[in-house]
Amino acid sequence: MSIYNFTRTYQNTWPATTNEGTLRLKAATSINDSGLKVTPVLTNGHSAFGAEIDGIDWSCPIPEALVRKLVELQNKYAILIFRNTGLDNARHIAFAQQLGKDLEINPFFFGRENDRIGEPFLWDVGNINRDGTTVQPGQRRWEHSKGNALWHTDSSFHKPRAKYSLLLSHGSPAQGGSWTHFADTRSAYAALPQSKKDELEDLVVEHDLWHSRKLASPEAFKEPLPHERDLVPPVCHKLVQTAPNGDKTLYLAAHAKLILGKSFEKSQKLIWELIEHCTQPQFVFSMEWLQGGDMVWWDNRQSMHRANPYTTSMTARDVRRATVNDDGPSAMGVTRYVK
Ligand SMILES: [Fe+2]
Repeated sequence: MSIYNFTRTYQNTWPATTNEGTLRLKAATSINDSGLKVTPVLTNGHSAFGAEIDGIDWSCPIPEALVRKLVELQNKYAILIFRNTGLDNARHIAFAQQLGKDLEINPFFFGRENDRIGEPFLWDVGNINRDGTTVQPGQRRWEHSKGNALWHTDSSFHKPRAKYSLLLSHGSPAQGGSWTHFADTRSAYAALPQSKKDELEDLVVEHDLWHSRKLASPEAFKEPLPHERDLVPPVCHKLVQTAPNGDKTLYLAAHAKLILGKSFEKSQKLIWELIEHCTQPQFVFSMEWLQGGDMVWWDNRQSMHRANPYTTSMTARDVRRATVNDDGPSAMGVTRYVK
């Protein structure tokens, strides 16, 4: 049986109302850090994952000293949430450019399938067509978006890979779909037994965008279109990596297709076993989009995330992503060796 015959889609029912990881912050948990109000989301002994940050004046360029402070917080929490920033496209891009010298250019929709935003440094990951209607079944964007509902890291299949993603909401959040879910791959790695850590230590994984698209939408992506394949060839990365804070982490995604040296079936079995491990409730929180201007900044090197899948009744969702390329030693992955 082909691996693509099993279902890897998710229903739009997350989060459960009892999920303690749901982002409902209590003021009492906030701390003051250099004039910023920092409210951690998940705390687990010595570590924390996710934080909402208040106290930034987004109406003018962010001073470099504050950028350095935010990067420090980012390294600690991996996911930073900012409410009601009021940022527009230009200031969204400008802030992303303060976090890394190169931004990823969106290769898919700019100039070809949807240039509604018309800005190559912003990925249109909303559900709005150029004529204002919402994306519906049968459109390639609808099929493509199904893969975004699988747990993944952004652009692990690109050279260089993505370091940060900054997703900004415009307008009013969609009703029934305004959640993004995050998983802590550092704490998940730490929770593995030593024997498993030893087994994983030297493994190398091939990441392929078209694998995750095919998992989520086997018919539409039986074969990527020629221009799609040309744009995004596979890339290999180490499975176990070191996070910015020095902890080890799992670099995983639905894009992970093969573990070098293993069969496709054995690769997928281990990859999904690990994804399931990383996405247990104690490692996951869900962020609710409350209003236009909300922004979440995550580190793809030390977390996974997923969107809710589109539904036919979903209202317009206008979210745009700036992506900062990794410029570190692992940015280009590792050389694929002969299996
Ligand atoms: Fe994503």
